[in-house]
Amino acid sequence: MDSEPNYDKIGNQIIYYKSSEDMKEVKDSSIDVIVTSPPYNRSKVYSDDEGNVYDDQKSEAEYEALLLQVWSECYRVLSSKGMFFLNIGDSANSQGLSNRIAELAPNAGFFRLQTIIWLKSFLGRGHYTPSGRSRRLNNIFEYIFVFVKDRKKYRMNPQAIGIPYADKSNIGRYAKSDLRDAGNVWFIPYSRTTGSTIKKGHEAPFPIELPYRCIKLTGAKNVLDPFAGTGTTLAAARILDVNGIGYEKFPRKKVIQQRISEHQFFPQPVNLIPHLEQTIYKYVELADNLTFDELLDQNIFSFTKKEYNEIRIVQDVLDNLRQDTKLFTEYFSYFHTHIDKKDLSDKRIELTKFFDKSDPNHT
Ligand SMILES: C[S@@+](CC[C@H](N)C(=O)[O-])C[C@H]1O[C@@H](n2cnc3c(N)ncnc32)[C@H](O)[C@@H]1O
Repeated sequence: MDSEPNYDKIGNQIIYYKSSEDMKEVKDSSIDVIVTSPPYNRSKVYSDDEGNVYDDQKSEAEYEALLLQVWSECYRVLSSKGMFFLNIGDSANSQGLSNRIAELAPNAGFFRLQTIIWLKSFLGRGHYTPSGRSRRLNNIFEYIFVFVKDRKKYRMNPQAIGIPYADKSNIGRYAKSDLRDAGNVWFIPYSRTTGSTIKKGHEAPFPIELPYRCIKLTGAKNVLDPFAGTGTTLAAARILDVNGIGYEKFPRKKVIQQRISEHQFFPQPVNLIPHLEQTIYKYVELADNLTFDELLDQNIFSFTKKEYNEIRIVQDVLDNLRQDTKLFTEYFSYFHTHIDKKDLSDKRIELTKFFDKSDPNHT
């Protein structure tokens, strides 16, 4: 008889410390969503507590055989309504690798549904590992390939990770609430530098917002990560109060236990809409080195009605992200409180009118 695998159970999360080539602990068709990032086969360091190190420089044939075996197990355990999110990126020296890995999944039975771009940095915001120097541009995105088991049976709910409408007249036209599908480019910057994100012996964790969004999008109740690493997917599952199962062959157990148990709360992820980001940057650029008061003395801002509405959204975004950029928090909250009192039919609304220092509400 087989011996009981070495595992940990933290709340509703189970992590097996063994290879996911064989996931016999998981019943057929019992998983709603798989979110994972495999080893990238490019000399990253994954080592366990005993100092055993995963060989991240396998021959291409050996690497692909490992992944195909794991994807086949994934296919077996996924329910017919289930979805599979596979994150991987190309490095400077391995262009095309991601796509080759994605192409293996249909060999295991999956239908390739679409690709999400995970944008790590936008207009200078967000950390990434520089690789460019003078020979190429830095890589600031990775892929999240999306697969399903049965293309007729799966469903997702884009509004579950949606964003507010810029044009509120769209509410009710496509959806009842003020939430719309944010699309397939996800801006999820690391909250800290990659260096500080890397846990000792375990490179390349993805930010928790990434599995969080995948799980929310599908409304899954049972989640699997066959390459659990530091346990980020299970940490997201724990926050969302859904059952998670992970496999990690080279575990740093303390890191995993901490990651799963400590992530009881993090700011709700918000998709920043690029044109809103640009609005922010436009004003940051204009504000340059000015203090808030100096800024108010300048007559430089005026907004169209559209921009005015956008700024309300930016306010929500900033609230959600708990940004502490004092200037913008003050600035947008002023707008937020005054917007309903003003006549929005005005073609242009001058900022200076709002920032009249005699206004008793302005501190
Ligand atoms: C890119 S990392 C995953 C990082 C993870 N998403 C996180 O946020 O920490 C890939 C992981 O797969 C693990 N791994 C490699 N081969 C494995 C196997 N056969 N079974 C299970 N895990 C394996 C590596 O040790 C590494 O931790």
